[in-house]
Amino acid sequence: MTKIVFATNNKHKLEEIKQILKDKFEILSLNDIGCNEDIPEDKETISENASQKALYVFNKYKITCFADDTGLEIEALNGKPGVHSARYASEKKDFDENIDKVLLKMQGAKNREARFLTVISLIIDGKEVKFEGIVNGTILEERRGTGGFGYDPIFQPTGFSKTFAEMTMEEKNGISHRGIAVKKLVNYLNNL
Ligand code: IMP
Repeated sequence: MTKIVFATNNKHKLEEIKQILKDKFEILSLNDIGCNEDIPEDKETISENASQKALYVFNKYKITCFADDTGLEIEALNGKPGVHSARYASEKKDFDENIDKVLLKMQGAKNREARFLTVISLIIDGKEVKFEGIVNGTILEERRGTGGFGYDPIFQPTGFSKTFAEMTMEEKNGISHRGIAVKKLVNYLNNL
């Protein structure tokens, strides 16, 4: 079976992809290939960061691989936290601190439009193919729900009355930025 590296050690993301592709591809994590270093992701855009991570692994291990990068882009904050979503409040990557900072910056803001963007970069046969997933929504004035992770408690996707944190994992994956990008990736791989 063809082996593909997913440049992550996030167990949740790995299980999800493994399950979807199990009949056709063997998905390996960074741990599985003995890559234990911190892969650089210091570019200015989400798309460039996804490429940087995938190319790093490909160049070092010469194996088909893909990487993903995600950010929350808030209109009233000129697209922030964007590429800095994980470390918006501090290097601690603390979800609660990040939400508090967004809520503070958004105090009194009328325009609460935002979107999540995921880009997946796949390096296959020495060339790069990219897949994008976007979900639009609004930033609430306070948290709602306990599920999900990251900014989920304050993000309500357009057309829904629940935040991502109030949805089941299946509901969220069915409409989310990452869900959309992953579907495009899977479709591409299944048609090879
Ligand atoms: P990553 O590129 O998937 O590691 O995501 C970077 C950061 O964006 C995370 O640390 C979270 O703060 C945020 N994030 C990514 N995906 C989601 C999501 O599905 N819901 C809420 N926050 C997310």
